[in-house]
Amino acid sequence: MKEIVNRVNVDIKGVTPFIDESELKSYNKAAQDAYKTLVEGSGRGNDFLGWVDLPSNILPTHIELINDIAREWRGLDVVVVIGIGGSYLGSKAALEALSHHFSLHLGKMEWPKIVFAGQNLSEEYMSELMDLLTESDFATIVISKSGTTTEPAVAFRIIKNLMERKYSKAGTAGRIVAVTDSSKGALKKLADEQGYRTFIIPDDIGGRYSVLTPVGLLPIAAAGFDIEKMVLGAADMQRICISPSEDNPALKYAAVRNLLYSKGKKIEILVNFNPKLQYFSEWWKQLFGESEGKEGRGIFPASVNFTSDLHSMGQYVQDGERTLFETVITVGSSNRSLSIVNDPDNLDGLNFLSGKSIDECNKMAELGTMLAHIDGGVPNIRIEIPAINEYYIGALFYFFEFACGVSAYILGINPFDQPGVEDYKKNMFALLGKPGFEELSKSLRDRL
Ligand code: PA5
Repeated sequence: MKEIVNRVNVDIKGVTPFIDESELKSYNKAAQDAYKTLVEGSGRGNDFLGWVDLPSNILPTHIELINDIAREWRGLDVVVVIGIGGSYLGSKAALEALSHHFSLHLGKMEWPKIVFAGQNLSEEYMSELMDLLTESDFATIVISKSGTTTEPAVAFRIIKNLMERKYSKAGTAGRIVAVTDSSKGALKKLADEQGYRTFIIPDDIGGRYSVLTPVGLLPIAAAGFDIEKMVLGAADMQRICISPSEDNPALKYAAVRNLLYSKGKKIEILVNFNPKLQYFSEWWKQLFGESEGKEGRGIFPASVNFTSDLHSMGQYVQDGERTLFETVITVGSSNRSLSIVNDPDNLDGLNFLSGKSIDECNKMAELGTMLAHIDGGVPNIRIEIPAINEYYIGALFYFFEFACGVSAYILGINPFDQPGVEDYKKNMFALLGKPGFEELSKSLRDRL
């Protein structure tokens, strides 16, 4: 079935009260220039543009290789996915968006449950994960582009040890797939030595732009979702984004958010009205935060989950410091239907809702909130998708990646490096006593 790309639509009506036509024109022009920089590969970080043509270049045979492993693992209880940052958030976002809310509580399912490790250094998290893995039949996907990141490396060492005790060394090798760089890093060396199956992350694709490589696709396939559809959604979106047309939704979004930033709206809140999109916001925050937050500049990416957070952050958004704008991911229709029942006693006074779907109530909450927040001085961008499914999640991934590249170039930032992430690592190594960090260790300890 070919999904109709009535595309990812960007509606900026909720921004117009805050901007002038002429300002928008000048930012549209800046977006066109930044677009050229991106597609011509003439900007900073241009050795990391492998993601731009990726969706349309993914071969069916590549998808099949991934699906073969997913099918092989179908009867397992659990697949553990080890990774952090860009090696974690894309698959987590897609799995949360696509999975049944209560899949972890629904008993044995057709496909393994996916759990994550290596995305924190919590001893309790890791110990409790070991409790689960000890009593589960499981396989492991270990993902690290650099192959040297501490959090996933620590988790992998512990899980590999458990696997070798449980399945023997030989039995373990067939249950581990490593997703890593083609040559660099300890993980590649280890995988080669131990005979693990390996997928390569192309050199020219950075972590936070890697969800449509095996980094994201293998865990998503292992949970039983249709990665072919996801790639198709991304490829259709690629064709739309790669066009310099005035209607290009990614350019429109990049232009408007930079215009708002220039007018003192320093914080962008990604809003959803569907808890399945909570982790999509986490992926988006990493994409924009790591790509744009540099050199003392960048919109601060935040997120809220409505209507839950209307009862917490809603007060601030309506009435706090006026440095915010909102970008709402608005979903056309729900994948399930449930209506509010009539109650003859009507003691709660809710019979005016009888027969209405919960989704209709949600939509009215969304529209009411948008109007209230605009009245409160918060510009509102709406990003509309028809439904939450593999196709549109793939399209959204690509849409935001492209918009992020353009947006960072409008700001004059290299979207593809993350120099600031190194500082905590150096300090952590020094404090943990890594050889070679003795001097730094002493100076840090003097400050504590
Ligand atoms: O976007 C990025 O490059 C980072 O967030 C990385 O994905 C993250 O630091 C993990 O790196 P690695 O995959 O090398 O372990």
